[in-house]
Amino acid sequence: MSGAWHRKDLLSLRELSAEELNQVLSTAKVFKEILGRPIKKVPSLQGRTVVNLFVEPSTRTKISFELAAVRLSADVVSLDKDSSSLRKGETLSDTAKNLEALQAGVIVIRHRSAGAAHFLSQRLKASVINAGDGAHEHPTQGLLDTFTIQERLGKLEGVRVLIVGDIIHSRVARSNLWALTKLGAKVTLVGPPTLLPREFEELGVKVSYNLDEEMEQADVINLLRIQHERMVQARLPSVGEYAGLFGLNLDRFQRCKPGVLLMHPGPVHRGVEIASELADGPQSVILDQVTNGLAVRMAVLYLVSGGRGLGES
Ligand code: CP
Repeated sequence: MSGAWHRKDLLSLRELSAEELNQVLSTAKVFKEILGRPIKKVPSLQGRTVVNLFVEPSTRTKISFELAAVRLSADVVSLDKDSSSLRKGETLSDTAKNLEALQAGVIVIRHRSAGAAHFLSQRLKASVINAGDGAHEHPTQGLLDTFTIQERLGKLEGVRVLIVGDIIHSRVARSNLWALTKLGAKVTLVGPPTLLPREFEELGVKVSYNLDEEMEQADVINLLRIQHERMVQARLPSVGEYAGLFGLNLDRFQRCKPGVLLMHPGPVHRGVEIASELADGPQSVILDQVTNGLAVRMAVLYLVSGGRGLGES
């Protein structure tokens, strides 16, 4: 397969074509198969250096990028923001240029500011991968969610996906909606009006303020975390009221389609966004999302480093 990928960076899913999205997904499928073998390592990025620059907390994305780089035989190091010179007032740009001077070929950045990855991409020859920038995008999360739906349901075209919760602050919602709509899924965003502006309809999705009215038709329900750290003003009367109106509890689940997939990007607030029994139940693919994240991040590291697409697109 020749492939459509020609980018040095992965900054957002908004800018990717359906062909590029499919190329990442098909490449990730090949890497997932490799991850199931006794020897899980390939030499694709031997001699290259990947630096994780996480200026915001992370468990899944950071460890997943580290492991993805290791599985591709790259050298990988992670900068701890609290013990780095960012604490001494060094700018993000200077920090990244110093990492590049140390021969970083790929810089994976998570930052609280929307546009941070784009900002670095314009200043560096190294590849830049956005691992979450403020409330803008989280491209690899959108890709791994899309991969998981396709793997489980065998298709994306026509699949009805509900994304529920704190949409206004959610980079996960934005990346999901770009990938899913470009690949033919029907996306409905659900949440309280204070967390879901009607303007999202302009992005080609349905907006609803009533979970009970939407969930019975859904093939997939993706429940987002309430982002207390981004709530600059009180947008919810209480977490309890949110859980009552928008949390997926056992009663609501009884009214969903029998095969519905339950997703959550993590970290999960059990009993708020989703009942514990459902998060751990047979319809939950929450940990499959995490597993698939490794294959997806291997694919992204491989493609931005000049690898040619693998698998069928
Ligand atoms: N889903 C996600 O981005 O999780 P982390 O914040 O733990 O990386």
